[in-house]
Formats: sequence, structure tokens, C-alpha cells
Amino acid sequence: MQEAKTIWFNGSLIPWKDANVHVLSHAMHYGSGAFEGMRAYEIDGRAAIVGLDAHVQRLFDSCRVLYMDLPFTPEQVRTGIRDTVQNNGHTSCYIRPLAFRGYAEIGVMPDACPVELAIASFPWGAYHGTDGVENGVDVGVSSWRRMAPDTHPAMAKITGNYVNSMLVVMEAKRHGYAEGIVLDTAGYVSEGSGENLFFVKDGALLTPALGDSILPGITRGYVIDLCKELGLEVRETRIVREMMYNCDEMFMTGTAAEITPVRSVDRHTLGDGKPGKITKQLQDEYFGILHGRKSDRHGWLTFVESAQTGEAPPVSAGVGQEG
Ligand SMILES: Cc1ncc(COP(=O)(O)O)c(C=O)c1O
Repeated sequence: MQEAKTIWFNGSLIPWKDANVHVLSHAMHYGSGAFEGMRAYEIDGRAAIVGLDAHVQRLFDSCRVLYMDLPFTPEQVRTGIRDTVQNNGHTSCYIRPLAFRGYAEIGVMPDACPVELAIASFPWGAYHGTDGVENGVDVGVSSWRRMAPDTHPAMAKITGNYVNSMLVVMEAKRHGYAEGIVLDTAGYVSEGSGENLFFVKDGALLTPALGDSILPGITRGYVIDLCKELGLEVRETRIVREMMYNCDEMFMTGTAAEITPVRSVDRHTLGDGKPGKITKQLQDEYFGILHGRKSDRHGWLTFVESAQTGEAPPVSAGVGQEG
């Protein structure tokens, strides 16, 4: 990880190396946190944050599921994110807001533990590598299943859920795949360890529905919007394993993974093994907007003004600890 200068921690920008927690913090033991993964892309020398409002909204939604009242308003969190990127002088970066239960009591019941919020920004390249984005990756179906709806809340981006993702990606890499495809507990296709999935068959797109134990990806929503704009049919529906093997095109979406084509599933080559026409069309629109080559007509981008590389990390002005 490439370190940056500061991290926003409970309302203040503090030096990166000082953003630490006690080992007996609740979240260290029980997965009681919620987080976001966001990206900013450089457009004309400025950082353009993708989906700022949507990501902050999902953070609050995830916290709500855990009865975790953030001591900040959404506007304060949005400001904190902009301040972090600006103070670090980043124009192109990954952004990681993390809310978690801190240190007070060791029991599982979390109510006595304070809710804390940290926001970090740092450079991070293509999740599946530039080659993956351009030429596609090989994936395999995982032996692990996504959590059942009455076990963990899959729609919330809760830290504890990522034990599942971690097991999936570790298994996939050990088997020589770039990513694992996870089925839900009923056997339907759900998602990757950190990506949503899309399939193209006979010119139409299919993607697992929200009820299939997926995270409601911001990028998934953007791709659906682009499809509608391009006149492409998208169906949010249940998908079985063999539909993957016989599709014409497949790709994964995510803030980190962006739009990554899939060239094979369980060693079944899809199409001619190269990114398909519709995948490339969607990549062209998506990256076109993010890199400023196409107009931001859906309002995805928030620009951070006058990114600086100055010395002293100022305390984020006016960010108070609200009840
Ligand atoms: C499990 C999981 N599914 C899907 C996604 C894609 O979501 P988004 O497009 O909001 O980054 C992510 C990434 O955050 C993820 O962790």
C-alpha cells in the first residue's frame, strides 16, 4: 500500500502513522464495522470522485443495519472525504471510509462501544491489473456460498461479511483463478468476492437480482443506467451456473474492479475468449465518463477543488461530534 500524508479520523486530519486503534476495540473481535470503497480519477488535473453521494448513502444504510449511529451527518462525511483527498494532494486514488465500534467493553453486545469513523485515500491501480481490464480474466465457481439472507446482511457493506469474500478469493487464487464466483445458498449465481456480475446472451444483459445475496453495487447501478441509455435490455433475475458457461459475454463490475471482462468460467472459454462487443461498449462509456472524455450526463462525478500538496494537515474545520 502506498501511504499518504493524512487520514481523517473522527473529524480531524491526522498523520497517517497516528491513525491507530486499541487492540481491544470491538470491531477487531466481532467484525462490527461498515465501510466504503470509492475512487477518484484525474480530470484536467483535478480529482473527480465517483458516486460520492451514493457511497455515503450506502455507508449510512450499512451502519443502520448494525444499529450504529454515526456521530456525523452525511454532509460532514462527504466533506471529510473531499478534505482527505485534497489534503493528500491526490488526483487519482482509492478512498476508504470505515465506520467501526471502538474500545470500551469486550462483550459482543456493542452498545457501550463508541462509533468511530476513519477516511483514508491512497493510490491504487486496476484491481485485476491493466491486462485484466483490457483482455479479461479467468474465474472459477467457489466451493464457498454467499451468506443466506437470514445469517448475515449481504446488502450491507459490513466488515464481518468480508470473511466470506476473503475465503472465496483465497481459494480462487490458489486454484489459479483471478476471482471466485459465489453461488447463493439456493445454488443461484450471486457475485464475485468483490464484484457484481453481468452476462450477455443474445444481445440482452442479465445480472443477479438484489435478493440473490449480493451487495447492491454502485457500479452495477451505473452499468444498468448505461445499458438503458444505450437501448440495451437488462434483466435482474436468477441465474444458474450453466447460464454462465453458455453466455456470449461476461464481465464483473465494482469500484475497485471497474468493468473487468471475464474470458473463462471453470475453464469454459466464453465466446472467442476475448472481451465482447457489448462489454467493450460499456467500458468505453464508463471509462469515458470517469476520464473526462465523455460528458458526466448522469452526475456521477464530484470534483475536489485545488488539490494541494501543502505541509500542515489542518483540522477539518467545522466538523463536530454530533449526538
Ligand atoms: C461483495 C461486493 N460485491 C460487489 C461490489 C461492487 O460494489 P461497488 O460497485 O459499489 O464498488 C463490491 C465492492 O465494494 C463488493 O465488495
